[in-house]
Amino acid sequence: MHLVLLSIFTSLSLTSEAAEYRYHFCSNQTTFSPNSTYQSNLNNLLSFLSTNSTRETGFYNTTVGQTQTPENTVYGLFLCRGDLATIECQDCVSTSTKEIVQLYCPEEKEAVIWYDECMLRYSNRSFFSIMEDEPSKILWNLLDITEPNRFIQLAAKTLSDLVPLAAANASSGAKRFGTKETKFTDSQTLYNLVQCLPDLSSFDCNRCLRAAITNLSKSFGGKRGGRVLNPSCNVRYEVFAFYLVQAVPAPGPGPKGKISTVIAIVIGVTIAASVVLVTLLYCFRRRKARKKSDAINELNSEKSDSILNYHATREITSVESLQFDFGTIEAATNKFSDDNKIGEGGFGEVYKGVLPEGKEIAVKRFSMKSLQGLEEFKNEVVLIAKLQHKNLVRLLGYGIEGDEKLLVYEFMPNKSLDNFIFDSKRRSQLDWKTYYNIICGIARGLLYLHEDSRLKIIHRDLKPSNVLLDHDMVAKISDFGMARIFSENQNIANTKRVVGTYGYMAPEYAMEGAFSVKSDVFSFGVILLEIISGKRSSGFYLTEHSQTLLAYAWRLWCEDKVLEFVDNFMMESCSTSEIVKCIHIGLLCVEENPQDRPTMSTVVVMLGSESVALPEPKHPAFSVAKFMPMDEISVNDLTFSTIVPQ
Ligand SMILES: *[C@@H]1O[C@H](CO)[C@@H](O)[C@H](O)[C@H]1NC(C)=O
Ligand SMILES: *[C@@H]1O[C@H](CO)[C@@H](O)[C@H](O)[C@H]1NC(C)=O
Ligand SMILES: *[C@@H]1O[C@H](CO)[C@@H](O)[C@H](O)[C@H]1NC(C)=O
Ligand SMILES: *[C@@H]1O[C@H](CO)[C@@H](O)[C@H](O)[C@H]1NC(C)=O
Ligand SMILES: *[C@@H]1O[C@H](CO)[C@@H](O)[C@H](O)[C@H]1NC(C)=O
Ligand SMILES: *[C@@H]1O[C@H](CO)[C@@H](O)[C@H](O)[C@H]1NC(C)=O
Ligand SMILES: *[C@@H]1O[C@H](CO)[C@@H](O)[C@H](O)[C@H]1NC(C)=O
Repeated sequence: MHLVLLSIFTSLSLTSEAAEYRYHFCSNQTTFSPNSTYQSNLNNLLSFLSTNSTRETGFYNTTVGQTQTPENTVYGLFLCRGDLATIECQDCVSTSTKEIVQLYCPEEKEAVIWYDECMLRYSNRSFFSIMEDEPSKILWNLLDITEPNRFIQLAAKTLSDLVPLAAANASSGAKRFGTKETKFTDSQTLYNLVQCLPDLSSFDCNRCLRAAITNLSKSFGGKRGGRVLNPSCNVRYEVFAFYLVQAVPAPGPGPKGKISTVIAIVIGVTIAASVVLVTLLYCFRRRKARKKSDAINELNSEKSDSILNYHATREITSVESLQFDFGTIEAATNKFSDDNKIGEGGFGEVYKGVLPEGKEIAVKRFSMKSLQGLEEFKNEVVLIAKLQHKNLVRLLGYGIEGDEKLLVYEFMPNKSLDNFIFDSKRRSQLDWKTYYNIICGIARGLLYLHEDSRLKIIHRDLKPSNVLLDHDMVAKISDFGMARIFSENQNIANTKRVVGTYGYMAPEYAMEGAFSVKSDVFSFGVILLEIISGKRSSGFYLTEHSQTLLAYAWRLWCEDKVLEFVDNFMMESCSTSEIVKCIHIGLLCVEENPQDRPTMSTVVVMLGSESVALPEPKHPAFSVAKFMPMDEISVNDLTFSTIVPQ
């Protein structure tokens, strides 16, 4: 098996990851009227919470209206997951303060909302420092685990071990948070997290977490991931790293200081990057391991460096031609000033720059020492620079000085696709034709990676935030941080280390680590359906409609009501036949069996032709029946008879 892990240095996230919504609760018993004092107090509260989310503690509580309008007082707080960098916390809080009133609880006085990254809560009564474990919600991963009994015992024990750590009497403002990894099998690691509100007493935190763990164990039905959400504490376990794996769990205040050590870096990265980081650390360790012993090659048995060098030396005449003068880049970015910073990723920051001749660039800056040899770095840069296609973001070159390594990309003024499709306002700024062109662009970019470039490349992490948009809204696939190169006659590979983003991952990859061009096709299908519906696919967890996006699309397809899937605003500007065709293609791409999914070349043909007859889609992966969470079963109107807890 010949695979090459492309350089982590090429990962480019111009935008931080959007928050992943999970659940909310707001009682319609107490509501306020539009334009009331309560509403304006609430709006102030939400903006205070949002502006205070830069705090390092990842927590803030405040009250609005107590003196002027006592009967309309609003109390509120947010809590970010303990491992997040402030910028990510800020992102989540800012998203949640908007979405809660716009999408979920427009007129309720009391509300709580959970995202993967943070929780936001407000009420017209004071709830600070009070332990409240209701409303409580259990969410399950949709996939099953082998040896469930041993598994839940291990999970419950590990989570329980974390309780004293999180509940420890710490100084005020300290995080009440703990994470721990344990081996379930040789190839499966169990990741565990517990967290309380920091304003709880040690006693209450302890009580809340223990009850949550008990609840989780009691209703355990063999799922490989699960979590309890309630207003005071939360616990979660998974078999993938859903938080940043830290060198030291942090029950106390998070480490402060500059990004200068690996630990600091570990703390300062985005969720998406965390997965990249795991890959990085993993590769890093592998590189080291390989130096020690060539025999240690248990994972993919790839000879990555040799293939890489082979391609690089054969095809590139001058590495130096891609090298930028460090000083030029420094000047272009105003000495990497904060004003020029446009993003932050796992390996450093991204800056906007303007070259002397006026060309705008995006510069990714890495400050870690010797993560990779200079030659390797150059070779990999050259390799990526060779990938040139209208629908791939273009690497212009690199810069090196001392330990600093820079990558220079063309600048994408319109950021990424997720900024449009999941934002209620910006979404409607584009018309169907533009979205259609974006869809076609992604398809062509992917086709190039899969078939048309000289290498066969599997992206492995295709999602809207990795699709950047240029001046003309042309889609450019970015972030090849997890990409793999296949040799010409290789079709499938296996990895024990599943990286990528749940929600866009094909089932065979998420479950068995098997990836191929068809796993990218799956991700493409998910994006297509997201663009059309304006809704996020949350992968193995359920969306607000108590079903996944794919299941929802499939149900409407089967009931011949597929136009209901289309976002209202889009109906106004679209051609019905085109949009139905796109949904059809989307469903073909997300079919359960990878062999049934079309290749990207077929997809491009389908998209480009009005007359081509499409096969009937089969049942998509992750159908409703398979991923109904345990506690959701009784309240749903779908076909329960087919639910088979596996
Ligand atoms: C509140 O929600 C419940 C359940 O969703 C619904 O039956 C009830 O009519 C709602 N009450 C009001 C006042 O909207
Ligand atoms: C609330 O205020 C907005 C803007 O001031 C106005 O357009 C809207 O009609 C008002 N709504 C109600 C119910 O008074
Ligand atoms: C934080 O919240 C307080 C109110 O609790 C508010 O006065 C302040 O402006 C907010 N913003 C910052 C940056 O502190
Ligand atoms: C925050 O909560 C504490 C109790 O945990 C309370 O004493 C304090 O007044 C709250 N702060 C604000 C601004 O409401
Ligand atoms: C919150 O509002 C509800 C109804 O709007 C009211 O019945 C309740 O007394 C209020 N709670 C407090 C503590 O003011
Ligand atoms: C935490 O503080 C309380 C009260 O100050 C004390 O009774 C308790 O023993 C402390 N617990 C720990 C684990 O230090
Ligand atoms: C445990 O489950 C019960 C019943 O659903 C619920 O009332 C309680 O709040 C849950 N406890 C926690 C800590 O989530």
